[in-house]
Amino acid sequence: MLDLLITNATLPDGRTGMSLAVQGDRIADVAPGLQVPARETVDAHGQLLAPPFCDPHFHMDATLSYGLPRVNESGTLLEGIALWGELKPQLKAEDIVGRALAYCDWAVARGLLAIRSHVDTSDPSLLPVEAMLEVKQRVAPYLDLQLVAFPQDGVLRTKGGMESLKKALDMGVDIVGGIPHFERTMAQGAESVKLLCELAAQHGKLVDMHCDETDDPLSRHIETLAFEAQRLGLQGRVNGSHCTSMHSMDNYYVSKLLPLVAESGVSVVANPLINITLQGRHDTYPKRRGMTRVPELMAAGVTVAFGHDCVMDPWYGMGSGDMLEVAHMGVHVAQMTSQAGIRACFDAVTTNAAKVMHLEGYGLAKGCDASFVLLQAGDVVEAVRLRATRLHVWRRGKKLASTAPDVANLTLPGRPPTTDFRRARPAR
Ligand code: FE2
Repeated sequence: MLDLLITNATLPDGRTGMSLAVQGDRIADVAPGLQVPARETVDAHGQLLAPPFCDPHFHMDATLSYGLPRVNESGTLLEGIALWGELKPQLKAEDIVGRALAYCDWAVARGLLAIRSHVDTSDPSLLPVEAMLEVKQRVAPYLDLQLVAFPQDGVLRTKGGMESLKKALDMGVDIVGGIPHFERTMAQGAESVKLLCELAAQHGKLVDMHCDETDDPLSRHIETLAFEAQRLGLQGRVNGSHCTSMHSMDNYYVSKLLPLVAESGVSVVANPLINITLQGRHDTYPKRRGMTRVPELMAAGVTVAFGHDCVMDPWYGMGSGDMLEVAHMGVHVAQMTSQAGIRACFDAVTTNAAKVMHLEGYGLAKGCDASFVLLQAGDVVEAVRLRATRLHVWRRGKKLASTAPDVANLTLPGRPPTTDFRRARPAR
């Protein structure tokens, strides 16, 4: 007998009337109209069953610290970094752990079951690293947390920055990070990319670097990152996060750059909520959107995913761990409003994000982890439009969260009582 059978589900690829059978922590079968005995059967009523959301770019050591010690008045990336610098000496490990655990609760409730978090390694005490390693261990039964050694203040710009980063790796941090655009010069930025990629190659680690998070079109560290990935045989193991300078680069240069990025197997993570908020702050009007060239990168064959980046921290006062909100903003900022574009933005917070994160067992095929989310939506496009309620969230066969459907009961004058699901479907 099966442990769980979900019937009458719509899958992200558009297949309807699908059943999904679960045995233990694995998907035993996926087929139309399966009729097999199971300990629990859930009728999806034609709603969307999707693999879990994944956030490939987050800062969990800073999350939920909004207002500490003060709010970012200019709204810029640089004031955010300065503000984080003011907060760091006041941080206590138990506070970081408490806030991170609270955020992970939010995440699971929204079907977000895998997060890659950068963790600041600039301070030699490595207090955030210790705290986040504890969080990783504590959430392991319900959430996959990857940690990136992130030298927030610049690995070369900070005294002892490389030693601290190496120590963080020795302590158990998974991935090598960097921030070349924050080093003192372009040359030092390029040097940091080279050294950090070499370090990753030596240690057999993945690379995920904050890369060119600036409106400066001459910030071209993505070129160096692609070159180093290829030189060191790290194809498919390197990610460039943000890459916002690409928004402002000359079109001719980008026409040369995109094939180089594709050839190097470097993936790119854009952070629509944060890029639209932090970039363009030095502009008057017109104000640049700042997000990297998502549809063009995708068309060039680059794996592009979306991250949340920040929730209620020195850089961003909003957010709730909702990756559909991220995808929704991505649709708008990248103007990916076609049906295919909206579906690509959904992929950016599911399958593409899982690919960037090298997650094993991800997906809705036979043999994959029995991890999925039932959404109050008829398909992927509707899920993004409504930022649909996550009715049920399962991880490896176990139900972790349920949320009541979003239904308004209307009693309008002159009308019989009715309900509103906001579920109007467009003609196709
Ligand atoms: Fe970031």
